[in-house]
Amino acid sequence: MLKKVVGAVVALVFLVGVYVFFHLLTSNQLNLGYNKYYQPEQPIPFSHKRHAGEFGMDCRFCHAGAEVSRHAGIPSVDTCMKCHNGNVNGKSEYSKKWIKKLREHYTKKEPIPWVKVHMLPDHVKFDHSAHVNAGKSCQTCHGNIENMEKVYQHSDLSMGWCVNCHRERKYEIEAQCDEPITDLYQGDAYIRDFVCDRKDTDGDFILNNCSTCHR
Ligand code: HEC
Ligand code: HEC
Ligand code: HEC
Ligand code: HEC
Ligand code: HEC
Repeated sequence: MLKKVVGAVVALVFLVGVYVFFHLLTSNQLNLGYNKYYQPEQPIPFSHKRHAGEFGMDCRFCHAGAEVSRHAGIPSVDTCMKCHNGNVNGKSEYSKKWIKKLREHYTKKEPIPWVKVHMLPDHVKFDHSAHVNAGKSCQTCHGNIENMEKVYQHSDLSMGWCVNCHRERKYEIEAQCDEPITDLYQGDAYIRDFVCDRKDTDGDFILNNCSTCHR
């Protein structure tokens, strides 16, 4: 009898432990896996699924920086007001409520305190424009944002993740340079300088030099 009670208590404690562990894991309080799947609550439930998915809005309408600078940027309330200034007030009670809240921010000139989803450590340099201009789509790194009701971190943003993709880039470039390139509009010299000769004095691929990503 006593054995059974002890057994049951041990089993219960174990199950509670497992539950607490997974709760902490999924709510990211253990900080494992570099915040992959981190999905914070936002002050206004802005839906990428509706705006970028259903309505088909271009990512760059709101994240114009992605092509031209380090940061993609988060749009100000002014950008939202291009539609929510009285034209789009919401059909359902839910939509009406939140669009009203959005307009209060605008009239009171209070920025919306969006909670950051992605955050690299300060010692890492990352530049959106370099990646977007090299033909990497937003979805490569951020997943199918246009299906997300609430944004979460899709990639782990670990050093291995960066370095692996840069290694693939190295193979891509090497493949291009093994063949003589004749039909590109900038001509061979351009390709040699900017694509093929990107090796440092040790012969390492420049994209994976420590100083490329670390200050
Ligand atoms: C109508 C404006 C709008 C459009 C269009 C839009 N976004 Fe956003 N995006 C926002 C706002 C506002 C936030 C901040 C709130 C949030 O995280 O949901 C955000 C957040 C994000 C984040 C997370 C930023 C962080 O905090 O780390 C990513 C990544 C992102 N958007 C990617 C995209 C991609 C990819 C597309 C196109 C498929 C897109 N967005 C289209 C307005 C927009
Ligand atoms: C190109 C026009 C357009 C822009 C720009 C726009 N929205 Fe919307 N938004 C809509 C439409 C259309 C709806 C759907 C309203 C309805 O019929 O209920 C909507 C709905 C919403 C809702 C209600 C909840 C929901 O998902 O239906 C919120 C909140 C919202 N938008 C926030 C924002 C924010 C924040 C921004 C700026 C970052 C923004 N919108 C920019 C067109 C836009
Ligand atoms: C090669 C991977 C990669 C691609 C491609 C990429 N992003 Fe990002 N994005 C990141 C990383 C990494 C961060 C975190 C940056 C940081 O914390 O400094 C980030 C952060 C963001 C943020 C948060 C705010 C900011 O500017 O840091 C937004 C918004 C965003 N990305 C949108 C986009 C959009 C829109 C596109 C496509 C036009 C895109 N990203 C393409 C990797 C990528
Ligand atoms: C999906 C593939 C991919 C991932 C993931 C990726 N990169 Fe890149 N990265 C590239 C490509 C492609 C280029 C451009 C190479 C070129 O111009 O030939 C690049 C270029 C760069 C550059 C050089 C920018 C310049 O000014 O020339 C830096 C710095 C960089 N990446 C940092 C990072 C960091 C930090 C991460 C991780 C947080 C990362 N990258 C993740 C593919 C990737
Ligand atoms: C392509 C980009 C990239 C390159 C190249 C790179 N790193 Fe990193 N590194 C990162 C990112 C992103 C992180 C943060 C995420 C992580 O810790 O995995 C990081 C983290 C680190 C950390 C951990 C710091 C901490 O807070 O724990 C060390 C140490 C480090 N890198 C050293 C190096 C050294 C040494 C090299 C050269 C051999 C190098 N890195 C090359 C992107 C890069």
